[in-house]
Amino acid sequence: MTKKSKTLPLLDSTFHISLTIFFFTIHATAKSSTCSEDTSPLSLGIKQEKLSHLHFFFHDIASGPNPTSIWVARAPTSSKSPTLFGSVSMIDDALTIGPKRSSKVVGRAQGFYASASQSENALMVTMNLAFTEGKFNGSSLTVVGRNPVVEAVREMPIIGGSGVFRFSRGYVQAKTLRFNATTGDAVVEYNVFVFHY
Ligand SMILES: *[C@@H]1O[C@H](CO)[C@@H](O)[C@H](O)[C@H]1NC(C)=O
Ligand SMILES: *[C@@H]1O[C@H](CO)[C@@H](O)[C@H](O)[C@H]1NC(C)=O
Repeated sequence: MTKKSKTLPLLDSTFHISLTIFFFTIHATAKSSTCSEDTSPLSLGIKQEKLSHLHFFFHDIASGPNPTSIWVARAPTSSKSPTLFGSVSMIDDALTIGPKRSSKVVGRAQGFYASASQSENALMVTMNLAFTEGKFNGSSLTVVGRNPVVEAVREMPIIGGSGVFRFSRGYVQAKTLRFNATTGDAVVEYNVFVFHY
């Protein structure tokens, strides 16, 4: 008993010193850290949040001498699947003001989509909408979502953006205007609703 009461305070103080060193280290690290600091929204030019509606047409061209949608990968079993499950396409599709391919280009959809369902024609889409005209020139929106292509209107989330679209969030609605089953070419109407500053 006497032995125990003698050793315990020693353990206690050792533990206490260790803890003190531990917290001091954490505190010192936090204080000397230069990787984060509080900042104000105004210093980044952030004022009132706006809601913008963008409207354009997306040209997914798989055929011809200059395809903008190319198959880059597929599984050995993809060709046996009714949905081509496991196949992946990379795109650099023109975004135009009007539905014609010759219409003025306002940006490009760059990214990839993959057949992600074994039973439906549903794509997993990951793409950046990079704008090249007007006040959105140089800015981009990032879309990641599910696109069940046979449905009349598909919705995909906007998960962020750059330039004027910093801190953005919203959604896109995609509606196929024309699809040629022989060539695989498609024209899709896009309505974009996005909150940004
Ligand atoms: C868009 O921005 C790029 C890079 O700053 C510039 O070269 C180009 O002329 C701009 N286009 C339009 C239509 O303003
Ligand atoms: C699909 O494309 C082919 C080749 O360009 C063309 O001959 C055919 O008329 C097109 N079909 C439709 C429905 O537009």
